[in-house]
Amino acid sequence: MVTPAAFWDKVAAKYDRKTVKGPNYAARIDRAAKWIGPDAVVLDVGCAGGQITLDLAEHVRKITGIDLSPKLIGFAEDRRREQGVANASFKVAMPDDPSLEAGSFDAITAYSVLHLVDDQLAVLKRFHELLKPGGVLIAEIPRKEDIGLHFRTLIKLMTALGKAPIVHLYPHATHESMFSEASFAIQESRIYNPKSLNTSYLAMRD
Ligand SMILES: C[S@@+](CC[C@H](N)C(=O)[O-])C[C@H]1O[C@@H](n2cnc3c(N)ncnc32)[C@H](O)[C@@H]1O
Repeated sequence: MVTPAAFWDKVAAKYDRKTVKGPNYAARIDRAAKWIGPDAVVLDVGCAGGQITLDLAEHVRKITGIDLSPKLIGFAEDRRREQGVANASFKVAMPDDPSLEAGSFDAITAYSVLHLVDDQLAVLKRFHELLKPGGVLIAEIPRKEDIGLHFRTLIKLMTALGKAPIVHLYPHATHESMFSEASFAIQESRIYNPKSLNTSYLAMRD
């Protein structure tokens, strides 16, 4: 079985050519900016080529994008340089990276990535540790009930063929209980981008 880093490095060039700016993109960025605030220090987890990270950068004090794929982080850094964004940086890392300091972030964004990690609850608990008290978490996650059986079967087939990453889909109720167990209170959950079928969870750390 190919590792997640090897999978994302393999598809990196093709993935990076896709724009992430689907339906309601501006509304998603505006909402994130409103909740995060201009003085915030932000961690963007699973940033890929950094398109969202760089669009968020103009609304916050400082943002760090992390991703497990060195190739995607290379594209993100190229994009940052081309756009001349000074308050963003990128790093090859997973959320458990020891260089990330506990209590050092005002907000964490995790767009379309939590369904790709094996232990979502452990990652949510790590987000809790990385955030300051009252910190904001914005996580976009596909819910099992929003993905039809045919599509779920297709994903499994593609994963077996090495053409899709391993995906863990849970229903809304499971997301609610995991957020709660990691000491996050969900403020809002809605589908912003009907094309991606992700539900955007906006939550606050206790
Ligand atoms: C579906 S893409 C989403 C990219 C971007 N956030 C967006 O919404 O366009 C998922 C990204 O998460 C990264 N990823 C997957 N598992 C990860 C993990 N455990 N830690 C950090 N990055 C991860 C992948 O390399 C990939 O770039």
